[in-house]
Amino acid sequence: MKNHQTVVVLDFGGQYNQLIARRIRDLGVYSELLPYSTSIDKIKEINPIGIVLTGGPNSVFDSNALSLDKEIINLNIPIFGICYGAQLLAYLTGGKVITANKKEYGRIAINYSESPIFDNIHKQNVCWMSHTDQVVELSEGFKIIGFTNNCKIAAYSNDAKNFYGVQFHPEVVHTNDGIKMLENFLYKVCKANGDWKMKDFVEQQISSLKEKIKDKRVLCAMSGGVDSAVAATLLYKAIGDNLTCVFVDHGLLRKDEDKLVMETFKEKMGMNLIKIDAKDRFLEKLKGVVEPEKKRKIIGEEFIRTFEDFSKQFGAVDYLVQGTIYPDVVESGFGKAALIKSHHNVGGLPSVINFKEIIEPLRSLFKDEVRKVGFELGLSKEVVMRQPFPGPGLGVRIIGEVTEDKLKILKEADFILRDEIQKANLNNDIWQYFAALTNLRSVGVMGDMRTYDYAIALRAVTSMDAMTADFARIPYEVLAKISNRIVNEVNGVNRVLYDITSKPPATIEFE
Ligand code: XMP
Repeated sequence: MKNHQTVVVLDFGGQYNQLIARRIRDLGVYSELLPYSTSIDKIKEINPIGIVLTGGPNSVFDSNALSLDKEIINLNIPIFGICYGAQLLAYLTGGKVITANKKEYGRIAINYSESPIFDNIHKQNVCWMSHTDQVVELSEGFKIIGFTNNCKIAAYSNDAKNFYGVQFHPEVVHTNDGIKMLENFLYKVCKANGDWKMKDFVEQQISSLKEKIKDKRVLCAMSGGVDSAVAATLLYKAIGDNLTCVFVDHGLLRKDEDKLVMETFKEKMGMNLIKIDAKDRFLEKLKGVVEPEKKRKIIGEEFIRTFEDFSKQFGAVDYLVQGTIYPDVVESGFGKAALIKSHHNVGGLPSVINFKEIIEPLRSLFKDEVRKVGFELGLSKEVVMRQPFPGPGLGVRIIGEVTEDKLKILKEADFILRDEIQKANLNNDIWQYFAALTNLRSVGVMGDMRTYDYAIALRAVTSMDAMTADFARIPYEVLAKISNRIVNEVNGVNRVLYDITSKPPATIEFE
């Protein structure tokens, strides 16, 4: 396989660390997130063109502070320290770090000086800070290149050694020009040649999956959504017929979804795809359950149990593949981030699973990256650009208890929404659009008769990566048509609402 220039990101435990590696790859340079304790031999073997030291929760002077093999800073490789990484780099090179009296948190005004990393960047700017410690002294050869009101050394450099440190977080969107700084570090300091493309990710994944799996048998949980479709296709390219894809129809799928999945992947692509009809067992387990997290856990667990049952008949399976992507990992409370919802693919997994190992080839990718991978794999636009669909399916779009009747109502209403959005040619502008069945029933009048039926909520959002979202500005005429069709065509609905909340404070799904 082709050798790429690599930037190593040494992980000191900050919450944006994966994001740093991802941003660097986006900028065309292969990047790997490695533990802070990575040995100097390993670093030498990788031979990176640059090293990034990430943020983290420690103080450099704590007795148990995370540090790196000090020899790494003598390797003559450019280093970019971010937040804790900047403090550590200053500290290890003889500077001084203290716990500041005034903490800085959030958006802060900052002044930059001329420096390769601030090239083409407004010198009076805004950055995003989150720290209590700060660098107060630098050793010889270092200079200050950025300051704020409360932090005299908000950025520093040692140009001779190509060392740079910033107290703020360039990788988050709230730091203006932050991405440009990373780009400057890569191209102006490390002299990167930009040889990393999604195509390379695909090749690398396929070859490492091949190497790892060899001729072992692999089972892939296919939901038909973009993530699992891309994960399955990656595996299929790597190991062909040693991959069996199993599509669990849990009955919580959109209208005609099951047909579409079988057609696309089995008939057209030729994948080894088996459908399990598990509607009844899921509905049985969900009977009487109203609490969202409980529903999620039950669906997640039942999903795995269905697989277990299947694999008992199927014979020994070594690996189970899942299409987990990065936002699922973060929002499921992995690492330090707080639990928002336990996403189906991660938090819902019971601790005991009868498989040797779970493979999650897309775990480090955001949705837009997954789509790029999908195109690289030759999947059609129809498959790749499908809107995201949550693992627990309509189970989290029916507020309160899930019943067969409610599912029927929701599927029809959702179908109408999708149909009208597509007819209005809005599908490419909207990240996700779906109907949810509220638990609210209200009084209406139809044909001079009183009704007491459900309210359907329409949800349509624009987003880049599902981490934040805004409600889509769907033209009134389109909304009117959708509303009119739903109340006329779907029995049991007499009211249609449009959700105009962003994320945060709401989430995209209702539960
Ligand atoms: P929320 O509702 O958390 O959703 O704003 C963010 C994105 O994730 C999708 N989602 C899920 N995807 N398993 C998944 O694979 C899940 O359990 C799950 N829950 C939400 C959601 O549709 C949106 O795109």
